[in-house]
Amino acid sequence: MFKRHKITVIGAGATGATTAHLLALKELGDIVLVDVAEGVPQGKALDMWESGPVEGLSVRVSGSNDYEPTANSDVLVVTAGMPRKPGMSRDDLLKVNADIVYQVVEKASRLSPNAVIVVLTNPADVMAYVAQKASGFPHQRVMGQAGVLDSARFRTFLADALQVSPRDITAFVMGGHGDDMVPLVRYSYVGGIPVEKLLAKTALDAIVQRTRTGGGEVLSLMKTSAFYAPGSSLAEMVQAVLRDERRVLPTISYLNGEYGERDIYVGVPAVLGGNGVEKVLEIEFTPEEKEAFKKSVASVRAPFSMLKY
Ligand code: APR
Repeated sequence: MFKRHKITVIGAGATGATTAHLLALKELGDIVLVDVAEGVPQGKALDMWESGPVEGLSVRVSGSNDYEPTANSDVLVVTAGMPRKPGMSRDDLLKVNADIVYQVVEKASRLSPNAVIVVLTNPADVMAYVAQKASGFPHQRVMGQAGVLDSARFRTFLADALQVSPRDITAFVMGGHGDDMVPLVRYSYVGGIPVEKLLAKTALDAIVQRTRTGGGEVLSLMKTSAFYAPGSSLAEMVQAVLRDERRVLPTISYLNGEYGERDIYVGVPAVLGGNGVEKVLEIEFTPEEKEAFKKSVASVRAPFSMLKY
């Protein structure tokens, strides 16, 4: 018998709820929202479910504070985490979020042993590593989101500069999700034409810089992290997996020798399909790009010495 897919979204905060709503609108499966905050996942889920008749949806959205209702999910999306509090360093936050991610993934993965895990909680490169350790899943079935969002920002700014539809722009960003991400101008195209042929270097440099600080730009305006574009990015990845689309998307993937790196999760172009990360695509770098990628990998590795995972 055919069965509807089941997707669990852990963390019913701004990004988790936005992602769940988009997944419901796309009818990718029944959705279970989980959060520690009492009543919040239940209330948000009920509200979303009640939009179903208006939107013409058949899927069910439910909420819970525990994990039993998540059993046998096909995909686990991890957005649970803490925002940085005053007086907290980046490293303090990293330890707190690593503990949260370990704990929620340990619980959820036991009940859904065949799931694919997509991690958003920041720093997503490090948290994907923690999620794999907590689940013990094959590396292929654990990935992180950062590059789809970074590339979406890059594409938005390129489209604006060229006054064309962002749909016609393909571009991608590699490396860690942070100030030293690597937007690859050389591999960016508009309707098949290299963007370098259409925009001056100064304009491109400014777009690269705005992409690098894209998260901070939103944060400084509304005083809380972005969640619409992150939610869209997660939903795109979940769809690629559940529909076995074999999309080529920048994905935080496990490297086992690719790009000369081992035992690390970092953003690279990958083929996403029914098995998770079907393949990591290796591209050639210029010496500067290689340098930038190495720097980015080093900053992803740096916090591991203080983590117990
Ligand atoms: N189990 C389940 N949910 C948890 C847990 C836990 N152990 N700890 C925290 N949460 C929930 C919070 O209750 C909150 O509802 O995670 C949710 C996080 O939501 P927001 O604070 O709104 O954060 P959001 O903007 O959605 O970002 C999610 O992504 O960008 C990263 O690191 C950032 O941690 C943040 C995460």
